[in-house]
Amino acid sequence: MAKLHLITYGCQMNEYDSERVAGLLRDARWELTTDEREADLILLNTCAIREKAEDKVFSKLGELRRLKSSNPDLVLGVMGCMAQLHQATIQSRAPYVDLVFGSPAISRVTELVDHVRRERRPVMDTGEGPLVKITARAPSASRLRAFVTVMEGCEKHCTFCVVPTTRGRERSHTPETILAEVRGLVADGVKEVTLLGQTVNAYGRDLTPPTDLGELFWWLNDVDGLERIRFTTSNPYNLTPRLIRAFRDVPKVCEWFHLPLQSGSNRILARMNRGYTVERYLELIAELRDAVPDVTLSTDIIVGFPGETDDDFQATLAVVERVGYDNVFAFRYSRRPGTPAATMPDQVPDDVKADRNTRLLAVTGRLAAARSTRLLGRTVDVLVDGHSRKDADVLAGRSRCNRVVNFDGQGQVAVGDVVPVTVTEVLPHSLRATLAPHAEEALCTSR
Ligand code: SAH
Ligand code: F3S
Repeated sequence: MAKLHLITYGCQMNEYDSERVAGLLRDARWELTTDEREADLILLNTCAIREKAEDKVFSKLGELRRLKSSNPDLVLGVMGCMAQLHQATIQSRAPYVDLVFGSPAISRVTELVDHVRRERRPVMDTGEGPLVKITARAPSASRLRAFVTVMEGCEKHCTFCVVPTTRGRERSHTPETILAEVRGLVADGVKEVTLLGQTVNAYGRDLTPPTDLGELFWWLNDVDGLERIRFTTSNPYNLTPRLIRAFRDVPKVCEWFHLPLQSGSNRILARMNRGYTVERYLELIAELRDAVPDVTLSTDIIVGFPGETDDDFQATLAVVERVGYDNVFAFRYSRRPGTPAATMPDQVPDDVKADRNTRLLAVTGRLAAARSTRLLGRTVDVLVDGHSRKDADVLAGRSRCNRVVNFDGQGQVAVGDVVPVTVTEVLPHSLRATLAPHAEEALCTSR
């Protein structure tokens, strides 16, 4: 069998796509290898969301060039968002790359690779394509947790974001194809799915007949053997009371909500074209907490968006304090070619961005630690997915609120089980716990 080495950068959707590519190629007798030196085909699944992500890919390509000169038969491919956005730059900066293709061409990956090997000349495919659900999965994929892309693309046009260009317009997969995929995953042992979409809470509005994410939750809830449903990323603009009700009512949907804020200043939110105000965002948070008091909240924030003053940034800190997130992903604004914000005046200098980033992380770290301590002494359900990295006798898993939990299974618990445990210690990145005597005590458990 020929050997494939796959390197994935970026988001969960890329991880999902990489699994598909590995699965499709496996069906065409390509075997995965973790050693790039023994590969016949190396594919880089790339991200274009920030400049740093792109720099990493070009530096990796530079390294792989040496491998290619010692093994001229090696096929080198670049796929994903950078392939879509920078086809010409890749060709000029790394002319030794044999294959460049965007996400619409993933279903044809086998054909594209065959083409390069047969013709011995570069192949480029970054056009539009039909929406195809690929169910092939890499043998290395997790048996317990899986991502499921429920919609592709985005048509929101936030002024900083390149996704609408790299991933095209918004298109939902039908509930039937998603259900079939999830049933197949569960038959393979998967217990938890994370539904993926750039604006996952806008799911289904483009279908005939239209549907929504809440309805999809109910369908998936009926899949026997599936324990947990998560979803990301939601956009505040599309967050409806109907979805909040489904979030509260569907038993298998976990109490974990990622709701990007981006900025706590209305002036900056308007320049970002986010379609909501701080007041509206806080109303939504209040509704979520009203519906699910124990909800775990996380968010994305950009610091140093063009025109952001120190007052704007202070306003962001104030919202972060007020919400008290469990987790915050902070990003320094990065100019993306072709986006409106890239040419806005008042770009913020790098040192100011770095300073705001540090200040934001100090606040979010303090708040997250305070949020974690509330778990001390409480009982949570854990889906056991393996052994602790530090101690093989200790089991590891995740709570419904998505925290890593380590505990002693006392010989009674196996990987794949869902068990209630009581939290005995709160560490910065994990929780320690002991087996709880009674399942019915569990917090964030199925209601
Ligand atoms: N669809 C998601 C976002 C996808 S991108 C949403 O609606 O929020 C993931 C995160 O990357 C974004 O939430 C944003 O915080 C960050 N991001 C996107 N473009 C960026 C840029 N140009 N510079 C810095 N961060 C960016
Ligand atoms: Fe990007 Fe905004 Fe869509 S952040 S992915 S354009 S919702």
